[in-house]
This record gives sequence, C-alpha cells and structure tokens, in this order.
Amino acid sequence: MSAVPTSVGRAATRGSYAWKKTLPTLKPRSNAAPTTMQGIDPSHNQPMGSWSNEQIGASVKENVMLTWAPSKMKNNLPIITHGEGVYLWDSNGKKYLDWTSQAVCTNGGHTVSENIKSAVAEQLDRTPFVYGGMAMCEVRARLSNIISSVLPEGLTGCAFPSSGSEANEAAITMARRYTGKTKIINWYRSYHGGTTNSLEATGDFRRWYIQPPPGFVKAHNPNPYFFEFAGATEEEKTEMSLLMLEEQILYEGADHVACIMLESIPGAAGVLTLPEGYMQGVRALCDKYGILLHLDEVMVGFGRTGNMWGFQHYDGVVPDIVTSAKGLSSSITPISMVAVSDKMMEFFEENPMGWGSTFQAHPVAMAAAYANIKEMLSNDVIGHVQEMAPIFEAHMKECASSHPSIKQYRAAGLFGALDIVSPDGTQPHHFNAPRTEATAAYAKAFNEVGLIGLFRPPVIHIAPPLIINEAEIKEGFEKQHQALDVLDKALGY
Ligand SMILES: Cc1ncc(COP(=O)(O)O)c(C=O)c1O
Repeated sequence: MSAVPTSVGRAATRGSYAWKKTLPTLKPRSNAAPTTMQGIDPSHNQPMGSWSNEQIGASVKENVMLTWAPSKMKNNLPIITHGEGVYLWDSNGKKYLDWTSQAVCTNGGHTVSENIKSAVAEQLDRTPFVYGGMAMCEVRARLSNIISSVLPEGLTGCAFPSSGSEANEAAITMARRYTGKTKIINWYRSYHGGTTNSLEATGDFRRWYIQPPPGFVKAHNPNPYFFEFAGATEEEKTEMSLLMLEEQILYEGADHVACIMLESIPGAAGVLTLPEGYMQGVRALCDKYGILLHLDEVMVGFGRTGNMWGFQHYDGVVPDIVTSAKGLSSSITPISMVAVSDKMMEFFEENPMGWGSTFQAHPVAMAAAYANIKEMLSNDVIGHVQEMAPIFEAHMKECASSHPSIKQYRAAGLFGALDIVSPDGTQPHHFNAPRTEATAAYAKAFNEVGLIGLFRPPVIHIAPPLIINEAEIKEGFEKQHQALDVLDKALGY
C-alpha cells in the first residue's frame, strides 16, 4: 500500500499568501453634463434654418460621423436646406436634380403631399407610439392588409422593422427557424445591408468589415464580372449558371440550405438585369430541394423598375419571403417590411420569429408608409414609370453610345447603370478602391453641373424619383452628358 500523501508544505511567505492587488485605479474624469437648456449653447434656441454655414460646419467637424466613408469626407458634403419635387437646394443656393433619389429611396421626390403630412400628424395626435409586442393599432392592420393586397396571392404575413438591413436580418432568422436548416446562399455581386447577418449575406466588399458569422455561402451571379458562362445563346448561358448553382446546392448539402436569398435585380452592384429564364430556374431548384426563395426588394420594390416588385419581371415566380424598405414610405420615415408565405405565417403563429426591435411596427413610420402606398396607387405611379421607361432607356443608350468612357448600360423602369471603362478596356477602378484622379474629377463635375447622387465607381447609377417627368429626365441627362465629357477627358480618351 502506498503511503497516503501528506499535505504539501507551504514555503514560508512574506505577508499574506495571496498576491498584492494589481487592480488599476480610475483616473477620474467629470461625467457631468447639462440636464436643462441652461447649460446648452444658446444658439440651439434659434429656429431651425437659422444657423450659418460656419455654425453648421463647426458642429459637423466636431460631432458628426459618416458610416461607409471615412468621416472627414463629411466636410465636403453640401448642406441641404430644402427640396421640391425632384430637386434639392443647398445652403449656397445651388440647385441639384436628385439623380439617384438619394440612396434609391426618395421615390416620391422631395415634396410631401398634404395627405401624407396629415396622415403622419393624425397618428402623432392619436398616439405616437405603442410597442408592437404589447398592443395593436389600426394603422398596423391596414398597412399589413394593403401590402398583402399588392403582393401575389399566398404572401400574407407582414412585419415592419425599421431598415432594409433589419428586414433581411429578420428574414434570415425566420428562414432558419422555419426550415431548421442554417445555410443561406447569396450572390457575390449583391448588397443586403449593414447589420451582421445582412452584411455577411452581402457579396460586395462591405462584407469584409465584419468578422463573418457562419452559414453564408456565396454563389456567382449569372452575370459575373470577368467572365461569361459558356454557351452560344442566352438560354445556354442561363442553363450553365443554373447547373453551377445546382452543383453548389448539392455540395453544400440541400439538407443544410435554408434559403436562397437574392436581390430580384441587384441594385448597388449595378442594376444587373437577369438573363431570361434564370429566376424561374432558381425557383424550380428551390422547389426541387426544399429550399426557401427569399427575394430582397429593398431597392427595387414599390415601382422602381416599372412593376410593383422586381420579381414580377419573371413570369411564374413567387418567392417565399419578400423584404423591402426605401420606397415603402418613400423614405419619409424609416420603415421596412418582411412578407412571408401563408405556410411560414402559420408556423410563426405557434413559434416566435426570433427577431425583434423596440421600433418595429412604429405607428408614425407605418402611417407615412400607409399614406405613401395609397398615394402611389391612386396616382398610378407605376403606370407613370412604365411611360417614362422607354424615354429613360433611350437616354441611357445615348450615354453609352456617345461617350467612350461608357462600356455599356442596363436599365429597368427608372433604374439604370452605366459601366465605366478605361481606354485599354479594363475597369478604371474597383469597388473598394479609393477614387482615382479621373473618378474624382467626374464626381466633382457631377455636382458642379447640378446633379446630386450616389457614385460607386466603376458604376454610375441613375435612379431619379419615380415622379420625374419627361422634361426633367431630359434636363438630367443633359447634365449627365456634361459630367461624362469630363470623365472621357480625365480617362484620356
Ligand atoms: C437590396 C438591398 N437590400 C438591403 C439594403 C439595406 O437597407 P438599409 O440601408 O435600409 O438597411 C439595401 C440598401 O441599399 C439594398 O439595396
């Protein structure tokens, strides 16, 4: 029998056995701040619109941060004082035509109708807020109902987050919970939002900003950047890209893929209109393998491309999940939507969605969206877009044919993109690269000629408010040509 070990002797200690404390001590800073207007700069009591450019500029410099761009760029942004129709004015009195509806979202332009104003004011009078998990309000029932009415049959359940990113976040969670599967397939050339899952669903460079959450699989778009799918005809190319997608599903394991989540027409990536038959093929693959189809309509929903929904360009295709935002309220209030199939709705009658937010189903945001949709329908905005579309496309074509710096154009409704090309046939600029001298010269000229809009080289997006008329389209393209003349020269043509 081995001896039972005796207790281990402690060596002689100096003082206590424990080590001397090392916790740092706080270097105190005052955390006091004013709690009444008394401690606040008295200029805050002046009416809105009365601060000078210098006052605004000083606070912008000190206190304002940008998001996707380095913040110091804020100091060069115009200070917008007011807007009317498709126009905006800055604090120096300069007038701009809003050539991309800001972030492809101010679809109704910059004049808010009396109907929408009174709908918002009325909701503020009734009750500005009730929490969506605690109480219902009439506007929520009405908005859900009207959205379900403008969607194809079978898409019945609606929820209202505050941004497109959140709508996609909710949809991703719902797809996973409904199917019990985890993988989501998205395209490389895509953008789905800035929150964690939505950003990982994104294919463009913005995805690189985060630590990737698991479960997102990237597929090539049917229109990749540097190559084309093999085949003599568009039909054959479509078939090739679908076969590649099917193979990817098989190797990811159909039993693991919850959802294929795509933009109906990728917008930020450059209005990538899809080859004939492609989306029908994706729907058929989803049905074959028990995968949900989620179409992201955040940018193209509510009439941008001449149909209420982008997916209505694809005969016979009904998604299981639709997300949208932007045009839902014409961006008067921050609101987005997720709509799901009746089967999914039934599942979530018994199960929590797994997503939530204090501001989801915000009554004031919903009141603006509800009034906006009714106004869109009453004024037949979609009919107007269809009428303007051929005029818009003729101008897009003219840009591509008359400027050597433009390789090609794509257009759908009032949504268009021009691809910039260098004299040697390459792209002058990749998406994530800082601006080159040529693209910076173009951006400066674009503002100088009186246009304001997004610019994500090597693509030039054109997406004016949907209420634009023929004369304003002509005016916008005249200015666009002037800016493109500068680009032609800057690129060395
Ligand atoms: C297709 C698409 N999905 C999602 C988003 C994200 O929407 P939000 O910026 O409202 O979060 C965008 C924004 O541009 C988008 O274009």
